[in-house]
Amino acid sequence: MKNIALIFGISLISYTANAQIDYSTEIAPIFTNNCNSCHGGGANNFDSSPYDDLISSTSPSNRYNKKHIIPNDAAGSPLVDKIEASPDFGSRMPQGGQLSTDEIAKIKQWINEGANEQVQTSNEVVTDYPDKFELLGNYPNPFNPSTVVQFRSPVSSEFKITVYNANGQQVNSLVGRAVVGQNDFSVNLSDQPSGVYFYRIRAISNVSSSMIGSGKMTLIK
Ligand code: HEC
Repeated sequence: MKNIALIFGISLISYTANAQIDYSTEIAPIFTNNCNSCHGGGANNFDSSPYDDLISSTSPSNRYNKKHIIPNDAAGSPLVDKIEASPDFGSRMPQGGQLSTDEIAKIKQWINEGANEQVQTSNEVVTDYPDKFELLGNYPNPFNPSTVVQFRSPVSSEFKITVYNANGQQVNSLVGRAVVGQNDFSVNLSDQPSGVYFYRIRAISNVSSSMIGSGKMTLIK
């Protein structure tokens, strides 16, 4: 770890969530260019367009005997079996050629994302990583004798929690490694008397440290 500025710099790049595959701009063109000539209108037991026909296209009972696309299950979709090497029935598609590794990967990802016609805008698919440190507080509070300090971190970094009593004397400190996302760290004050305590959390590196936040906790014995 070089310094905090670097850590923040990295955090900006690493957040680009894996974009979802869009049917109309990324998938439909693959079928139009490679499949529709032989499968338009459902010829040869497969319908490659438009979307509604593609998604309901079904393989005959003497072949796969199920829909060609099983949403969220690329590995179980006959369509995928047919565009990869050595299909269970017939020859690899497109007949007489093959799709690029990239096109095959896109089709599989699209199916595993649900084979939707429109990109889903809910955050079910995009993982929610924090873009900055956020102290969530500690619970329980009041506590006896330990409490859990929670914070969210945009990066994996070392951090330090320091606890002071009402006179400003340090009574406890704990160094740990934060993971990206939510972090829970237990602070134990069993050797301290009841009272109000203050804590500070800093992200630390070799050359600098940066404040995540501070708070107040009450020990009642
Ligand atoms: C040159 C014509 C041709 C092209 C282009 C072509 N196919 Fe086919 N396809 C066929 C023929 C003929 C069959 C039936 C024989 C077989 O399964 O090998 C078939 C069968 C299939 C089946 C199996 C249907 C079933 O359930 O029995 C699927 C799925 C399929 N093709 C998908 C595709 C996809 C996806 C593309 C484009 C990437 C494509 N095909 C391009 C001619 C073609």
